[in-house]
Amino acid sequence: MATVRISPDKTDHPDVLDYDREAARYDATRGGDARADEAAGAIESLLASSAGRVARVADIGCGTAIVTVRLLRPGRSVVGIDRSAGMAAIARGRLPGRIMLGDLTRLPLASGSVDAVTMVWLLHLLPAAVVTKAVAEAGRVLSRGGLLITTVGKNDAAFGGTARDDAAAIVAPVRSRFDHEQADRLDLVTGLGGRQGLALAAQATFVGRGQGRSPRRWRKLLAAGGWAGPRRRAGSRSRRCAPTWPGCPIRTGSGLSRCISSRRCVNA
Ligand SMILES: C[S@@+](CC[C@H](N)C(=O)[O-])C[C@H]1O[C@@H](n2cnc3c(N)ncnc32)[C@H](O)[C@@H]1O
Repeated sequence: MATVRISPDKTDHPDVLDYDREAARYDATRGGDARADEAAGAIESLLASSAGRVARVADIGCGTAIVTVRLLRPGRSVVGIDRSAGMAAIARGRLPGRIMLGDLTRLPLASGSVDAVTMVWLLHLLPAAVVTKAVAEAGRVLSRGGLLITTVGKNDAAFGGTARDDAAAIVAPVRSRFDHEQADRLDLVTGLGGRQGLALAAQATFVGRGQGRSPRRWRKLLAAGGWAGPRRRAGSRSRRCAPTWPGCPIRTGSGLSRCISSRRCVNA
């Protein structure tokens, strides 16, 4: 896989959680191996829909590589790219020599050099303008017929899923106060993909262990006044998709994360 060197720059979208500080506790607080197994399983099911052999995979925003390492197969090379040195340091322990520091807006990969780009639990962190660049960069580095596989609508999992879910109905009245606009919505991401010659190919879901809460737990938290925090400023994005407050445990339960694959058209 041909690569070019590039320095990560954290100044363009600084309101993303500080993953250097988060690195040491990331795996333990985001569902660990169980969540990574589920996510990798969903990715594999989407890769299976590829028309050709998937020999080169780039996992963007790979974090600690807890998912990335599960994508390794005989005859398949996998690289992970992340802009957090702290996350990348842990990732290198899992995939020595296969982790690069880099920003998703300027991927250190040559054009057309990978058969699949994966982005797990990444786009929901980013402002719309950066999501646009992320999809464009994915389109650039994908080979013809290559697949972009990304989670979409991530906050639906954290906040209890679709309107049909009991938890979502309970949370709906307060969600709008804390939830930022969702630049990773399915329709937006597929629209951006279309501009890059990427056509929606398939969808899958996985249980986002460590995400979401049961209706009972939401009721308890709301009754305890946990959602009476400050309104977000107009135009600003909340730092986390769910607020934390004293006594609030790390998210438990299991929201359902959705991911999609989009294929780069052969004539794009
Ligand atoms: C929620 S974590 C997900 C990690 C991994 N994909 C997983 O599912 O375990 C998001 C990761 O994206 C990385 N990230 C955020 N913005 C990025 C950017 N602009 N370029 C590259 N990585 C970025 C963060 O450093 C963090 O490691």
